[in-house]
Amino acid sequence: MTIETVAVIGAGTMGAQIGQALALAGYEVRLNDIEARILEKAGAGIGDSLQRFFVAKGKLTEEQAREVRGRLSTSTDLAEAVEGTQLVIESIIENMNVKKRLFGRLSELCPAQTILASNTSALSISDLASAATHPERVVGAHFFNPVAVMQLVELVRGARTSDETLAAVKTLAEEQLGKQTVVVNDTPGFITSRMVDVIINEAACMVAEGIASPEDIDRACKLGLGHPMGPLELADYTNGIPIVVEGMDYLRAEFGDDKYRPCYLLRQMVRAGHTGRKAGRGFYDYSPQK
Ligand code: NAI
Repeated sequence: MTIETVAVIGAGTMGAQIGQALALAGYEVRLNDIEARILEKAGAGIGDSLQRFFVAKGKLTEEQAREVRGRLSTSTDLAEAVEGTQLVIESIIENMNVKKRLFGRLSELCPAQTILASNTSALSISDLASAATHPERVVGAHFFNPVAVMQLVELVRGARTSDETLAAVKTLAEEQLGKQTVVVNDTPGFITSRMVDVIINEAACMVAEGIASPEDIDRACKLGLGHPMGPLELADYTNGIPIVVEGMDYLRAEFGDDKYRPCYLLRQMVRAGHTGRKAGRGFYDYSPQK
């Protein structure tokens, strides 16, 4: 089956960027969201990004940028968005029940051969696929932010994902989008989220235990371990503190292993609203006077 038209469900931070990457690669893209406002913002953001990073840098002509933009359409109507698509990439909020409801609905709307991919960062693909009529067509395709810069797509093989489904998404990611892939057998958190949650959690525990300052923990990881960003500045930068807490809770529940217990300091920070850069405070202070 040749993939020509792709629906991206959820046009937030990731969905809009994935849609742009697909349109740049020549696919017809249908962006869907429950909120018209988000679709407008995504459309405007993509137009702006094509101008700033492609036309202004001589990578695309004005005409080519218009063609890319012309391959993208938006709709709040799910049935309209998925009609005639060969691949659907789900990128809605990170909530298993909401995602499962969507996969059930997609199973009703899409023909049996349509591939249903999820951009979830951590949730079990086998669990998600249990809500679909054709679980062999369900696969994880975990992109990274910013999509245009980050090289990896983590492909997740669910318990019932077929080899053909995995191969089709791998080909699209590598040959059409120019990404590199790794294949993970479905486990909560896959490779990357499990690893990053544990590292940030451990760094937060060190802060809570008074072992070192956030600055020194980050400096140690950068200068001693070669990390491009320290774990605490990374948590702040991605506004990821609530995501780490949820991620650790999920890993702990799924694996039944206390080694994934979230550091209490992280829970306190969420309760205090100190969730990272956007909030003005996380492990570091981003208030205007600073
Ligand atoms: P976001 O909150 O920016 O966007 C989610 C969008 O989904 C919202 O616009 C919301 O209106 C929409 N939505 C919610 N329910 C919907 C439904 N039933 N149908 C259609 N649209 C619906 O979230 P973000 O950050 O883009 O994350 C989306 C997914 O990507 C999550 O699963 C997340 O774990 C994953 N992810 C996020 C990364 C990040 O850096 N933000 C990186 C990699 C994966």
